Amino acid sequence: MSYKELYQPVHLIIGEGCIREIPRHIDTFGGKKALIVTDRGLLKIGTVKMITDVLDGVGKPYAIFADVLPNPTVSICNDAKALYDREGCDYVIGIGGGSPIDVAKAVGILATNGGTVEDYNGLELSTYKSAPLIAVNTTAGTGSEVTRAFVVTDEKRKSKMLCVDSNSLAYLAINDPSMMVGMPPALTASTGMDALTHAIEAYVANSRCPFTDGIALEAIRLIGQNLEKVVENGSDMEARTNMCWAQYMGGLAFSNAGLGMVHAMAHQMGGFYGTPHGVANAILLPYVMRFNMSACPDRYRDVAQAFGFNTGDMTPEQGALAAIRFIEELKKNIGIPMLSDTEFDPKDAVILAENAMEDTGMPENPRQPTIPEVVQVFMEAYLDKR
Ligand SMILES: [Fe+2]
Repeated sequence: MSYKELYQPVHLIIGEGCIREIPRHIDTFGGKKALIVTDRGLLKIGTVKMITDVLDGVGKPYAIFADVLPNPTVSICNDAKALYDREGCDYVIGIGGGSPIDVAKAVGILATNGGTVEDYNGLELSTYKSAPLIAVNTTAGTGSEVTRAFVVTDEKRKSKMLCVDSNSLAYLAINDPSMMVGMPPALTASTGMDALTHAIEAYVANSRCPFTDGIALEAIRLIGQNLEKVVENGSDMEARTNMCWAQYMGGLAFSNAGLGMVHAMAHQMGGFYGTPHGVANAILLPYVMRFNMSACPDRYRDVAQAFGFNTGDMTPEQGALAAIRFIEELKKNIGIPMLSDTEFDPKDAVILAENAMEDTGMPENPRQPTIPEVVQVFMEAYLDKR
């Protein structure tokens, strides 16, 4: 008898102004002092203040750790945990895109389980539920606020650790589009492509199920209709709200179905060069889809249908190519760079490919590559001068 276990945060709230619901939820677990985990940029532009105003309004104390950087490292997690202890905090509020929320998850797990982040590199390695975590998303999105995964860079190995742990699930996940209005177009573009990659990888992942299929396809449809609009006009609240839903569903889809080769390769670019996660995914997505096409052309044809193509008369291969071309066009329209525009160096391709084979996303990919095949996909992306 086979069965499927599904994961999601305890509470999820979505919609403009929903950050006002945070204090009510803090009272349900009796939180006394929060550690807010965020980054300098969000502090500077006033995004963090939107949350501290809500906490100040009801007299809830907090300390702020704002030293999270993109592709956060083990030492950043340790610094945040040290502040949590020094300030006598008993719950965590992560405010940001993937990086601050990932660090907040690490702090929550370390608070109740002890040890170091490296101890949780892998699948379900903690014993106890994290300290209560409120995950406030400011991008759309990494999906980190709804997933049981957090990614931390091992600065010594220059590699990314993917910690997949249901004890790290948020107590409360918040997606308020008013928190996202300040996102610059390039960040809107790359995080939106990350969300699209989540949905597409989940839709073809080996551990997919009817639940993840349904939300993945709807996420793809919403991204196809709204990403360009919101990159063009960041104040389009309808498009922002639709992207919130899409990233929410993409996050839930991959958290329950798994990822694939795009993320397995992109994680290595993040660890090696610090390439922003969404940019690396966006660059690699169509090349990996071409590699995977022979294993799941009918599934990729469904993706084309979700993008709005009339696929009734298309063979699975024609449909898959339509989906890939749509993504290539979308990338161009929203200003995603080519691989040759990044710090990627072809002489690193073998080590990147070797590390990608170890990534927990790889076993979910519908076609299992060899190391030379991963190298080849990197090189196809690198040599493509379109
Ligand atoms: Fe991602």
